[in-house]
Formats: sequence, structure tokens, C-alpha cells
Amino acid sequence: MPLTTGLQNQRVLVTAASQGIGFGVARAFLEEGARVVINSSNEQKLRKAEEELSKSGEVHRITGDLSSKEDLDRLVSGTARVLGGIDTLAYITGSPAPGTVMEKDYEDWDRAARLLTVSPTYLARKVAQVMIDGKTKGRMVFSASLVVREPSPSLALSDICRVSILGLVRTLARELAPTGIRVNAILPGYIKTARIDQIVRNAAKSKGISETHALNEIVSQIPLGYIGSTEEIARSFLFLGSDMSSYVSGAALPVDGATLRSIG
Ligand SMILES: NC(=O)c1ccc[n+]([C@@H]2O[C@H](COP(=O)([O-])OP(=O)(O)OC[C@H]3O[C@@H](n4cnc5c(N)ncnc54)[C@H](OP(=O)(O)O)[C@@H]3O)[C@@H](O)[C@H]2O)c1
Repeated sequence: MPLTTGLQNQRVLVTAASQGIGFGVARAFLEEGARVVINSSNEQKLRKAEEELSKSGEVHRITGDLSSKEDLDRLVSGTARVLGGIDTLAYITGSPAPGTVMEKDYEDWDRAARLLTVSPTYLARKVAQVMIDGKTKGRMVFSASLVVREPSPSLALSDICRVSILGLVRTLARELAPTGIRVNAILPGYIKTARIDQIVRNAAKSKGISETHALNEIVSQIPLGYIGSTEEIARSFLFLGSDMSSYVSGAALPVDGATLRSIG
């Protein structure tokens, strides 16, 4: 049997998709013939992304802040209405500010926990209900980060709050298994987006080195020898977000050019 994604006409919600990883993921699903709703918090940026992505297929936009309950409710009901249901959720989110534990205060933890822990869990629950009501054997793919396996000293909010994604996919995969809905995670390593450009600029400034030097330091940590592209990470979303991965649920897949050292 030839290997195909089978995503033609599938109904896909991609969050945080006005740029970067989310934008690349939305484009990859569109190129496979899926019908896609994109979301992000900035209406102007999202409209521009929608214009660009419409060259690749049927795309709709729903603006909303992923850390707001009202916006999550509106996002799920709007997506279900526009697409007539949801087959795949591709969850990407924004980045919390860098910094150490000692540099962060109560409000920082509260905000980060809402964005990185409460938001994906609540969204998963809402999307699952749409899938169950539609008798859809859907798939959910949650993007986190390598830091859930190997914490980064300067990304405390992310290190701590994103670990919940591992708990979410294991718990929900087992809870929803009887419905046929599958739940998995992707752990991106270094992927070439505006976020990486910012990390390079910050590292150059704080260490007093050139941006080229700072970039080379990052690349030297990646055994495959280069920073991944959004197209490369998008392919892992196609795999976990389609029936190509029909027997995979509760997994967390690193997509990192072999950067991760830990075994567990
Ligand atoms: N690039 C990497 O190497 C890498 C590695 C590991 C993990 N990650 C994580 O993967 C995620 C995406 O990274 P990226 O590199 O694609 O970042 P990016 O280029 O900065 O894009 C971030 C996206 O998130 C959206 N966003 C931010 N806050 C939002 C909110 N509250 N509600 C809805 N959308 C929101 C932004 O759109 P608006 O501004 O329009 O809202 C934008 O589309 C981030 O969480 C990042 O920390 C990235």
C-alpha cells in the first residue's frame, strides 16, 4: 500500500500560526489538501498569514489569545462551525519570556501556567468534546520543547510549566483511547524562526560576542549540524496528525537533529 497522509478534506485547527512553526504546520496541512483554521492573538499578523496561506488551499482565521478561556471557547466553537467538526488539533503556542527561577515573580508564573499548562489542557478538553460529539477518531498533537526532558537554565518558565504537556498526553491518550482519539506531543529542538533569531541576539548581547559566533555556538550543540526548518518539523505534525500514526498515542517525539542526550 502506498504511504499517504490521507489528509485530503480533513478539518484541522492550528494554533499560534501567524508565523514560525505554526505557520509552517498550517501550510503543510494545506498542501496535503486539508481544510485549516489558523489562530493567533494578533489580528493584523493573522490576516496577513491567512492571505499568504490561501495560496495553498482553504484556510480561515480565528483571532484569539490562547491564555484566555473566552477566546479558547470561541476558537473551538468557531472552528467546529466553519469546518463542520475537527479531525486534527495541532497545538503550538507563544513563548514565555526567558529568565531564571530567581528572576521570576508570582505574576510571571501565573501567566506562564495559564499559557503553557491550563490553555492546552482546557483546549484539549473542548476539542475532544467536538470530536466525541461528531464520532470523529481525531488526533491531537501538542508542541512543547526539548526543555521538558533537559531543562535550560535560562528558560525557567518554559522548563517548569511545559512539563505538563507530557502529563497531558499520557493522561488524555489513555482517557480518550476508547473513543479512538489519539493524543501525542512533539518536542522541537532548534527550529529556524523569529524565536531563534531573538535567542541568538540575546545570547550575543549577554555574552558580548557577535551574532554569528552566538549562532555557531547553538549549531555546535546539534549533532546533525544545522538548525531545523519549519518544513522539517511540520512533517512530524503531518505524521502524528494523520492516520499514518494510527497506532501511536501518548508519545512525545523529539524533532531535534539528535540534540537531546537523555534516554528517558
Ligand atoms: N523555534 C524553536 O527553535 C523552538 C524550539 C522549542 C520550542 N519552541 C516553542 O514553539 C512555539 C512556537 O515557536 P516559534 O519559533 O514558531 O515562535 P514564533 O516565531 O515567535 O511564533 C510564535 C507564534 O505564537 C503566536 N502567539 C504568541 N502568543 C500567543 C497567544 N497568547 N495566543 C495565540 N497565539 C500566540 C504568535 O502570533 P501572534 O503574535 O499573532 O499572537 C506567533 O504566531 C513557542 O512556544 C516556542 O517557545 C520553539
